[in-house]
Amino acid sequence: MRIAVVPGDGIGQEVVPAALPALTALDEAFGLGISHDVFDWGADQWLATGVGLPAGAISRLARDYHAVFLGALGDPRIPDMAHGRDILLGLRRGLDLYVNYRPIVLKHGVIDLYRENTQGLYAGVGGSIARSGAVTVAIDECVYTRDTVEGFVRFCLGRLREQHRRKVTLVHKSNAVPNTGRLWQDVFWRELEAFPELVGSEEYVDSFCYNLVRDPTPYEGVLAPNLFGDIISDIGAALMGGLGLASSASICPETDFALFEPVHGSAPDIAGKGTANPYAAAMSLVLMLDHFGHGTAAGLLRDCLTEAAGSEAATPDLGGGGSTRQFMAKVMELLDRKLSALPDLPTP
Ligand SMILES: NC(=O)c1ccc[n+]([C@@H]2O[C@H](COP(=O)([O-])OP(=O)(O)OC[C@H]3O[C@@H](n4cnc5c(N)ncnc54)[C@H](O)[C@@H]3O)[C@@H](O)[C@H]2O)c1
Repeated sequence: MRIAVVPGDGIGQEVVPAALPALTALDEAFGLGISHDVFDWGADQWLATGVGLPAGAISRLARDYHAVFLGALGDPRIPDMAHGRDILLGLRRGLDLYVNYRPIVLKHGVIDLYRENTQGLYAGVGGSIARSGAVTVAIDECVYTRDTVEGFVRFCLGRLREQHRRKVTLVHKSNAVPNTGRLWQDVFWRELEAFPELVGSEEYVDSFCYNLVRDPTPYEGVLAPNLFGDIISDIGAALMGGLGLASSASICPETDFALFEPVHGSAPDIAGKGTANPYAAAMSLVLMLDHFGHGTAAGLLRDCLTEAAGSEAATPDLGGGGSTRQFMAKVMELLDRKLSALPDLPTP
């Protein structure tokens, strides 16, 4: 399994190197055969060379790698985030990573949030008209194709069934955005017919957000178009205890190629201070291990992260006094202990 590692910008350059040793330790202990190469795509490269995602990067990734592990993109020196769009949206579109899984982990259980990741308002269709330097008309079109919505809904329902989930909610806004809204409704209810184990429901996105904050317990699986899913996942992160805890996987169901990254951005306000919470980045590695069928290794790392987040090594965003390094040192100490207590580990 070859992983392309892209630390990116800001705290991405802190949390990614902090989290990687946990993957290496699990790889060595279980003989998983994981290797990684680091790519310096990000703001510095963009400012020095004007290159975001280098030419040929997509075909090279698809040919030579199984996954990407990304930190974050975003730099105050590039206020329009042009490099971030080029790299991140380039990876999502180029590798057709149209399913974005963002688990919302709460005390009562996990809400499996799935966000469509390549189309909708992020399809890149639009333009603007300017007069005397000021934009007078601006258009971003919401574009959905039936193929993508069908592939997305079918894949997500399949995953929910595998996870023995019982309920699934479609989030849309078909009363105000009727064309794409109705496409989503039609596909959702048709596809659901093949999943009798799942009970479906639908909610307008505004009312869904209200209900989610008031009481998240009724929700199990949630399917959302791109922009709504993006916003809901930040609400989910707040319910979890902060952006430092939320992880994500972007998947191409056809190729199994996937990109794993924390939900948070580059956090310029804390970058360089050594206090960023590496939990979300490391939890993205848990999602990676799970995705490639290494459930035992994933479970061990998940347990260690949960324990470390409740310890004195927790970072300031969790109310603790630990640094990025101290937090991961605690995780590694717990991991070492758990690994040495395991019987009969295969020799790498
Ligand atoms: N996927 C991505 O790469 C991605 C996602 C969101 C935002 N961005 C970009 O990141 C830059 C900053 O965006 P923003 O400030 O709106 O969002 P952000 O997620 O970077 O930060 C929001 C707040 O959460 C805190 N935070 C985030 N992650 C944290 C962590 N691991 N530990 C502790 N605190 C953490 C930050 O300090 C900040 O106060 C922008 O350029 C934005 O475009 C990138």
